[in-house]
Amino acid sequence: MRLKDKVSIITGSASGIGEATAIKFAAEGAKVVVCDVNQAGVDQVVAALVAGGADAVGFVVDVTKPDTIAAMVAAVKEKYNRIDVLVNNAGITQDAQLFKMTEDQFDRVIDINLKGVYNCTKAVVDTMIAQNSGVILNASSVVGVYGNFGQTNYAATKFGVIGFVKTWAKELGKKGIRANAVCPGFVATPMVKAMPEKVLQGMEEKVPMRRLAQPSEIASVYAFLASDEASYINGAAIEVTGGLTL
Ligand code: NAI
Repeated sequence: MRLKDKVSIITGSASGIGEATAIKFAAEGAKVVVCDVNQAGVDQVVAALVAGGADAVGFVVDVTKPDTIAAMVAAVKEKYNRIDVLVNNAGITQDAQLFKMTEDQFDRVIDINLKGVYNCTKAVVDTMIAQNSGVILNASSVVGVYGNFGQTNYAATKFGVIGFVKTWAKELGKKGIRANAVCPGFVATPMVKAMPEKVLQGMEEKVPMRRLAQPSEIASVYAFLASDEASYINGAAIEVTGGLTL
């Protein structure tokens, strides 16, 4: 119960790593706020959490639309009167090599993966400052440290959210708020499973552990970073890759 009663907002939590993080946080005693553009997914995840005895609520939030974020934050404050953790997990890919990438592909990924993180954090930061406590966690990627073929837009966002946490660590540390990023390698989620079997096999062969990560293995790292066990970790970008980059 490392997150007992911690009010935790998790974006993009209708699927994949976000859903696994919601499940893990609930198991650790958090009050979980499930946010996603996918209404059916939100309903399903919340129903499963509540059936398991958790305190969970769901909101349809589009991280590119500040009005939907503001409505969720207002409702969370009304219900719980505080916000302890924000996991900025929502993200997409729209891959193409630079010479083929369209402006729409570029803008869409920047809007969700980078500006969406700014939008959500901006919406909760005043509450965390007033409490003199809070944890902000951003979904980066190994691609946000090393770049990747075909991911000009995505790589820029994943480097960018590391820039955010290093800046926020400096600005907000004295206000009792920690900010960190998690950089997973390849994780078996709908985002990755959509890739051709041959590409997936190639990915597994590159990892010394010869397998993809399970979403729960990334969720565990978020749970640790959100907990008081990580009380002196601030401004870090933690790689969780199974040794992929060695
Ligand atoms: P996923 O596609 O399974 O889940 C992403 C969720 O974000 C979906 O439920 C989707 O509906 C939601 N979402 C998309 N646009 C949204 C928006 N505008 N507002 C709110 N929610 C929105 O993806 P996955 O794999 O679980 O990825 C989660 C995060 O982890 C992403 O930021 C991704 O870039 C990052 N990541 C994933 C890796 C992987 O191998 N799967 C590796 C490294 C990082």
